[in-house]
Amino acid sequence: MTLEQLNQRWAIPNLVRFDAGGGNLPRMILSTADAEAHVYLHGAHVSHYQHRGEKPILWMSAKSWYEPGKPIRGGVPVIFPWFGPRAGHPESPNHGFARLRSWKIVAIEPGQNGSVTATLALRSDEQTRAAWPHDFDLHFSLTVGRSLQMALEVRNTGREAFTFDEALHTYFTVGDIRRASVHGLAGASFLGKAEGNARATQGSEPITFTGETDRIYFNTRAACTLEDPVLGRRIVVAKSGSEATVVWNPWITKAKAMPDFGDDEWPGMVCVETVNAMDNAVRLEAGQSHVMTAEIQ
Ligand code: BG6
Repeated sequence: MTLEQLNQRWAIPNLVRFDAGGGNLPRMILSTADAEAHVYLHGAHVSHYQHRGEKPILWMSAKSWYEPGKPIRGGVPVIFPWFGPRAGHPESPNHGFARLRSWKIVAIEPGQNGSVTATLALRSDEQTRAAWPHDFDLHFSLTVGRSLQMALEVRNTGREAFTFDEALHTYFTVGDIRRASVHGLAGASFLGKAEGNARATQGSEPITFTGETDRIYFNTRAACTLEDPVLGRRIVVAKSGSEATVVWNPWITKAKAMPDFGDDEWPGMVCVETVNAMDNAVRLEAGQSHVMTAEIQ
């Protein structure tokens, strides 16, 4: 659909409109009395969430690509059906194909207390089946208001069970990563990719950052709190249907190695991701569905 068609079909005065975002990709602007969010149809990718009069909550790289077939760097990439590199498939893109495809809008509705909810869908087709031989139907809903609520539903529309990974790979803005901390993962076992894929257990102390950090914490259902003394705020990520949490900051060397990430941008971001992957991958029987949610306040 063209921008004009999107606006004709889905715009709601003073609440929802569409414009051309980065790379002229169509972008939905959800604007309530409390907050504003931007969502690209490319990847069903939330690229912006901000309370009125406050600083943006989500981080975006100034170097992000905005191109069909390439991921957007920052915001909330939707990851499915594998997380990270796909084992045994060096030809497959990192973090699956959901973030590389254009999604379709299936509903936009005003909600309670002045909020608005948009739902986007991605269904299996020839292209996805060539990459991953299963039939599925994904629905991603987001509700914008005093909090940002996101729900990713995966339906198995095929005849056989499949196993998948998924993530709401959320990038947060921080004043300075060297002074930020993440609370809520005490006692969780994790795999540290930046620590030679070693497994270890988090102590009672919060996570602080003194170098590249790339950890997947398993069997974690509790909310995480991101403390940011520099911006003077506390961001809470509550979740359901998610058993794993990834915490990531690339630090200096890895930031330089990524073409779509500014060399000097790493102090201003951290990912706290709502995940099911590896030990916590999801097996879905034919005809069944699974919902994972994250709420950011
Ligand atoms: C994190 C992974 O979730 O995403 C990291 O744990 C990875 O290993 C990072 O580097 C970014 O991935 P990408 O594909 O968006 O560059």
